[in-house]
Amino acid sequence: MMNNSFKQINPNVLDFIGNELSEIQHLNKINDKLQSLCGIINFFENKNEILNFKEKFLQSEDRKKIANKSEFGDYQTNSELTDNICKLLKSKKNNPNIVFEPTFGKGNFIISVLNNFENIEKLYGVEIYKPYVWKTKLKILDYFLKNPHRNKPEIKLFHANFFDFDIKKNIKFTETDKFLIIGNPPWVTNSELSGIGSKNLPRKVNFKKHKGLDALTGKGNFDIAEYISNSLLTLFSRSSGNFAFLVKNIVIKNILYEQAKVKHKIGEIEKYKINAKKEFKVSVNASLFFCNLNTKPAFTCSEYDFYTKEKLKTFGRTNNKFVSNIETYQKHKNFDGKCQYEWRQGMKHDASKIMELEQKNGYYVNKFNDKIELEPDLVYGILKSSDLKGKTLNKTRKFTIVTQKKIGQPTSYIKDEYPKTYNYLQNNIEHFNKRKSSIYKGKPLFSIFGIGDYSFKPYKIAISGLYKQLNFTLIKPNENKPIMLDDTCYFIGFDDLEEAEIIWSLLQSENTKTFLKSLIFSDAKRSVTKDLLMRIDFVQIMKSFNQAKDNKLNYIQLRQRITPAEQTKLILFG
Ligand SMILES: C[S@@+](CC[C@H](N)C(=O)[O-])C[C@H]1O[C@@H](n2cnc3c(N)ncnc32)[C@H](O)[C@@H]1O
Repeated sequence: MMNNSFKQINPNVLDFIGNELSEIQHLNKINDKLQSLCGIINFFENKNEILNFKEKFLQSEDRKKIANKSEFGDYQTNSELTDNICKLLKSKKNNPNIVFEPTFGKGNFIISVLNNFENIEKLYGVEIYKPYVWKTKLKILDYFLKNPHRNKPEIKLFHANFFDFDIKKNIKFTETDKFLIIGNPPWVTNSELSGIGSKNLPRKVNFKKHKGLDALTGKGNFDIAEYISNSLLTLFSRSSGNFAFLVKNIVIKNILYEQAKVKHKIGEIEKYKINAKKEFKVSVNASLFFCNLNTKPAFTCSEYDFYTKEKLKTFGRTNNKFVSNIETYQKHKNFDGKCQYEWRQGMKHDASKIMELEQKNGYYVNKFNDKIELEPDLVYGILKSSDLKGKTLNKTRKFTIVTQKKIGQPTSYIKDEYPKTYNYLQNNIEHFNKRKSSIYKGKPLFSIFGIGDYSFKPYKIAISGLYKQLNFTLIKPNENKPIMLDDTCYFIGFDDLEEAEIIWSLLQSENTKTFLKSLIFSDAKRSVTKDLLMRIDFVQIMKSFNQAKDNKLNYIQLRQRITPAEQTKLILFG
């Protein structure tokens, strides 16, 4: 019985190879025959492949283990989508004569390309997983047995690892050739790969060249697809033609962001948003990334809906600033400057099972529901992203132990001054010792991060870094004790309530939110970042309050909200 996974293959293809070709004895002759039928050069790499062919193709070609699927970012594009992508490319009057699919998988892009473009002379593909190479070869043979009169390019399919594949040696072209680089490279990041001990990585892992803490805390994290896209855009910078890749939205954003520095010779950059849930059954934001090769570098990208082709927005660099919506940004671009305050990230301890406490019946309890006795001094209320919904807060659901007043402060004082707290921490020391992040290496016992004078300021304005909804919460002390924030939040600390209230009013205004939305890429895991918040120029926002007559909360109203003594503080903003 035929394996299910081959049910789309015309049974004649298998019979053809099994019967007709078994008559031919020589490898070269079999390959010549197959090339004349379907264009594939060296269909069989050696005699053994012919002998074992039946056994090989009757194996299931699907990756069984989920871990293997994620290691290879294996999300195969369905043929309806590859066809529609090729139709879109065709509508742009592209007429490639050379095509390259760098991770071709089960080959749907290759079939759609053969079906949509008439003038292809050469088609190259690379795939790491041998069963997919077979699957694709059979699909191509099947295609040409069904369509014997279609144009047959010279097809070279390599069973290889993209990271070891010598493109210059294997893909021959001249300056007059018109390329189409098409595909859907693996959807996996280097940190996901190192988490599962995989080596499916380029050799230059820190390719973004981040140093120190940025590299440790994730700025050095990158998508394999981003690496593959960048290396191809560099390699093919002098070839004319097009580039069309299905990638996560974050990959497109990063390529555009780096474009100011890298200056890839790409133009007419476009992004077509697809529904990845429908197409790939995954909750990822993904799009088709399209551009022209070998042109004057462009720095903006037009975004469309793939299905309706409706234009949604333009993003990228304008006036040397990187923004997510150029059209709305133009209205408030004067707010984009240097923030007068320092936004801080909240506290980080990586030991939530014992450092995250709740109060029950007058006791603190940890995640194990252990009753804990602690001296009150080092215990502070703490807010997480999910708590930052309302306008103001002075209470918390959770508490934590603040072991240090600044980063690196010795913690030996806890033993002498707070013996109950010390016993609790010491009894749970293994939770601190097993913290993986290297920021804790060589630091005092029970060290925390994201702590400093600013953490102990009584008033704070905080925002979650994780939520798309832009809500700033004004936080006041709880029984004279400042409230802490966790590391998913950003905040400014204030000594003075009225100053905090003024700034909070400015942040909550519609104009400020519209401005921030024009900067935010909601596909990112952290949509709000410190870099973004540090761009808020309160002087300019205050000036616009002053001028705007039709603002909901204009400058006059703002002045009425604060006492005369506090109005002098407005001088602070020029
Ligand atoms: C997202 S799938 C897409 C496959 C195909 N391009 C498509 O659109 O259906 C990614 C493919 O990359 C392959 N792959 C993963 N790592 C690779 C590597 N280092 N070199 C070549 N192919 C790789 C996987 O086996 C998988 O077939």
